[in-house]
Amino acid sequence: LSILFSASEAAPFAKEGGLGDVVGALPKYLARMGHDVRVVIPRYYAVNREKYGLKLLPGTLVVPMGIIGRMYCGVYEGRLPGSDVPIYFLEHEQFYGRAGLYQQDGQGYPDNDNRFVFLSKATLELCKMLDWSPDVIHTHDWHTGAIPLLLNTSYLHDRYVGNSASLLSIHNMQHQGNYYPGLMEVLGVGWKHFNYLELEKDDQVNLLKGGIYHATLLSTVSEGYAREIQTAEYGWGLEGVVRDRAADLYGILNGVDYEEWDPAADHCIAATYTARTVKKGKAACKRDLQRRMGLPLRADVPLFGVVSRMVRQKGTDLIAEAIHRILEMDVQFVMVGNGEPWAHFFFGDVAAAHPDKFACYIGYSEELAHKVEAGADFFVMPSSFEPCGLNQMYSLTYGTPPVVRATGGLEDSVENFDEEALTGDGFKFHNHTADALFDTIGWAAWTFFNNPKGLAALRKNGMKKRFTWETAALKYEELYRLAVRRRRGEEY
Ligand code: ADP
Ligand code: GLC
Repeated sequence: LSILFSASEAAPFAKEGGLGDVVGALPKYLARMGHDVRVVIPRYYAVNREKYGLKLLPGTLVVPMGIIGRMYCGVYEGRLPGSDVPIYFLEHEQFYGRAGLYQQDGQGYPDNDNRFVFLSKATLELCKMLDWSPDVIHTHDWHTGAIPLLLNTSYLHDRYVGNSASLLSIHNMQHQGNYYPGLMEVLGVGWKHFNYLELEKDDQVNLLKGGIYHATLLSTVSEGYAREIQTAEYGWGLEGVVRDRAADLYGILNGVDYEEWDPAADHCIAATYTARTVKKGKAACKRDLQRRMGLPLRADVPLFGVVSRMVRQKGTDLIAEAIHRILEMDVQFVMVGNGEPWAHFFFGDVAAAHPDKFACYIGYSEELAHKVEAGADFFVMPSSFEPCGLNQMYSLTYGTPPVVRATGGLEDSVENFDEEALTGDGFKFHNHTADALFDTIGWAAWTFFNNPKGLAALRKNGMKKRFTWETAALKYEELYRLAVRRRRGEEY
């Protein structure tokens, strides 16, 4: 199959969250199965052309932006590291020549609508430039949600993509790309598509909704989340639209890129280790993390770690509510993340008040993320919703039992600890409250102090689990084939 990934991020070039991990990894594994896979993302300033040896392709894309008129765009080409997968970067100073991917200082860019409609259209024009007709275009979230719509409308008879099927993967239902109706004039597909079934939602253009309506097939990043987004609690107003297409919706759990996340071969951590040497290895990594974060070098206290965007989705508010009570226990707590400004101030104050127990790094650091996964005794992830979540899978891999709220991918990937049977690999709670989080952290701390056998079992059980991209890639392959048959009208 020939498959084109179009997305707003791809690791390691430009990444804000798990979407980047997925787009940076899955194509590699599909290519190893023999597929012709390529990727396209914007060339933000964050994408370092020299470091990755990107080459400017001859020619220019002409992108019809409706009422704005035609816009032009250069294309750089590189390879996904560790593979031959071509990745194309759209060079457009006006739209992508900025410090951030989506925002600066917590403020979304006001022209994100045009920036990502441009990405969607340029993706289709790129096929013309490459003289290439992908069987499937795999789109991700609202940013490329316009592609399925374009394929069914203005590009329906296009020589290159007219027959291309589309798969829309929903990584996060909260962000939908909601814009003023005038965006219809930029999309340029005709106002008749501005209706309650397709693009209109609360008098606005909703790009994710349009994608859900038009995509040949749909997927989410866990089976649990595929069920959840059909309910009012998790559907963010689009649950009805999703339910209408429930028969075409599949849940495929993300994988772990073990080439990046492997405690036995991780360059960022103080000591590498396997399941056999986990106790000793983690002890060295814990000391290193404590030193790095300026905490007392104590082996005898449980160290809790967080790496995440500081937003409500991740339960940052629950941690804030519970943290003072948590710190009354003999524990240490480390946070790495950035996000909503209130959290930066709040956790900075907590660190100042409890320098011997709490430390945080406000910012983005791959290196620290690895150090926390390896050096913490427990990983904390109290998400209000979690489509998949990668950090809990990384922490299982590193023998760091996660404390999670049982939702979406967290529910699907973590098995609750059973003290009698010594089964399970983490600690789960259900209520989205600070009390439940506090109690469960207390349970983990108790286990650390009083149940060394239990702790050892938890670590081993987690490290045994495999979330391979090979498994996920096989499932995607099946979906692509189904989508192709659908698009060609061979199967309904
Ligand atoms: P989401 O995509 O919702 O943010 P995921 O768990 O799927 O959540 O993925 C988050 C990814 O981003 C992980 O690879 C994680 O290590 C990384 N990450 C998040 N915040 C930071 C940070 N401050 N520094 C380094 N990596 C981070
Ligand atoms: C989104 C979700 C996260 C998921 C990631 C990759 O950012 O919030 O749960 O793991 O996408 O699919």
